[in-house]
Amino acid sequence: MNFSLSSTAITATKTDCLVIGLPEKGEWPASTKAADDALGGLITQLEKTGDLAGKNAAVNTLPLVDQPWQRVIVIGTGKDADRTAASYRKCLAAMVGALKDGPSGSVLIAISDTGFSGDAASTSEDAKLNLIGRILEDQLYTFTDFKSEQPAARKLKKVVVQASDTDKALKNALNLGLATGRGMNYTKDLGNTPPNICHPVWLAEQAQAMAKDNDCIQTEILDEKQMEELGMNTILAVGKGSKQPPRLIVMEYRGGNANDKPYVLVGKGITFDTGGISLKPGEGMDEMKYDMGGSASVFGTMKVIAETQPKINVVAVIAAAENMPDGGASRPGDIVTTLSGMTVEILNTDAEGRLVLCDALTYVKKFDPAAVVDMATLTGACIIALGNQATGLLSNNDELANELLAAGERTGDRAWRLPLWEEYQSQLDSNFADMANIGGRPAGTITAGCFLSRFAKEYRWAHLDIAGTAWNSGKAKGATGRPVPLLVNYLMTHAG
Ligand code: BES
Ligand code: MN
Ligand code: ZN
Repeated sequence: MNFSLSSTAITATKTDCLVIGLPEKGEWPASTKAADDALGGLITQLEKTGDLAGKNAAVNTLPLVDQPWQRVIVIGTGKDADRTAASYRKCLAAMVGALKDGPSGSVLIAISDTGFSGDAASTSEDAKLNLIGRILEDQLYTFTDFKSEQPAARKLKKVVVQASDTDKALKNALNLGLATGRGMNYTKDLGNTPPNICHPVWLAEQAQAMAKDNDCIQTEILDEKQMEELGMNTILAVGKGSKQPPRLIVMEYRGGNANDKPYVLVGKGITFDTGGISLKPGEGMDEMKYDMGGSASVFGTMKVIAETQPKINVVAVIAAAENMPDGGASRPGDIVTTLSGMTVEILNTDAEGRLVLCDALTYVKKFDPAAVVDMATLTGACIIALGNQATGLLSNNDELANELLAAGERTGDRAWRLPLWEEYQSQLDSNFADMANIGGRPAGTITAGCFLSRFAKEYRWAHLDIAGTAWNSGKAKGATGRPVPLLVNYLMTHAG
């Protein structure tokens, strides 16, 4: 797909399709007025007859003859008072839905002049172009690698986005949005890849491929032997029931000054979670291929970083293992010494995410991080608490937590903070080791966060529980690409 930005008059742009926004009552944006003039008042007339009502995210395609455009797609943008970033995103998704398998080979998108309420960071032209870019890539995504019959090639080849100017700032905004969408799509690809292919060594190969394609990315892979020498025994304990060996995957991007502390991203990379000896029920277990969603979002974010090359240092660490039950698997009751030296009683082998993450959190101390953010499909309890809308956020630092929450708000990839109060910690008491790996049914997301917090004392740290947000179930089953938009937005606010 070819994407570009244009600021020439829309009537001077010949294209198969023009997209404009139509408010429900209220003042029309300039592009809509210009299109209406060029079409001899067609939109005005159709509004009068009630054919076009402007209800938010309503899509109407008007075929035309003898015009600069063969058709115009009118996207309803709702009432002025109701228009928000969220309703605008809905419009954009509806627009791409109408375009993606439609008859147009080229399109001019002229809806960045639709305004909505909110702060400057979300309503500026930059922010809108970023959103348009991201939603275009995100909504054009398909995953058909494993279908023997491939769908017919799309007609749509050329997308031009209308803006007030084509200066560097606006171009960068569109490009960052497009890159973010592509990063999300990479995250989705990794998640959707079946678990007989996507195993820890395969994930490590993805990192090596990224380093090969991008000179700015360095990678280091630790195998079981190296992890054993270091004492990363909890990652090993999770992986030892599987024929697929675990890996610790490190990717480094150094775009900032040599002495700038790096932002460290840590991802849970359980390529399949059966629960281990504490076996999960069978129903829906296929979705546990998405238990590497945290690591997939780290990969997707690194892809955006590699493409846009911001002035910042970023280190990515992925703890990859497969949680399987066999004669070599960890048992409930096993006690393991973590890389930190603290001991853990594994009371439930299905609470494996925190076990792989705790060693990774200890490992990243060596990077002297500015902040550490870990991403994990960690607890079913997070879905009970927040459903599929918000990512769970736990942090030992208010400033970092607020920055991540704000990045979530700006992008619509939202998170919600849960408390990490000291009072919850005692739920992890063990009679035999320094701690247990489970804290009982109450506050399951918080006690998982409490467990991780014990390994993250020496730096500013936040944990994102993406159990409810990394993938969709049911008919639309598939990875979502979250929380890549949140992470990219957060990192970019720290780029020089
Ligand atoms: N990967 C799961 C969490 C999960 C379950 C995410 C369902 C999304 C959907 C995690 O490893 C797990 O099994 N957690 C247990 C923890 C419990 C044993 C304390 C859970 O949530 O049941
Ligand atoms: Mn589990
Ligand atoms: Zn898991």
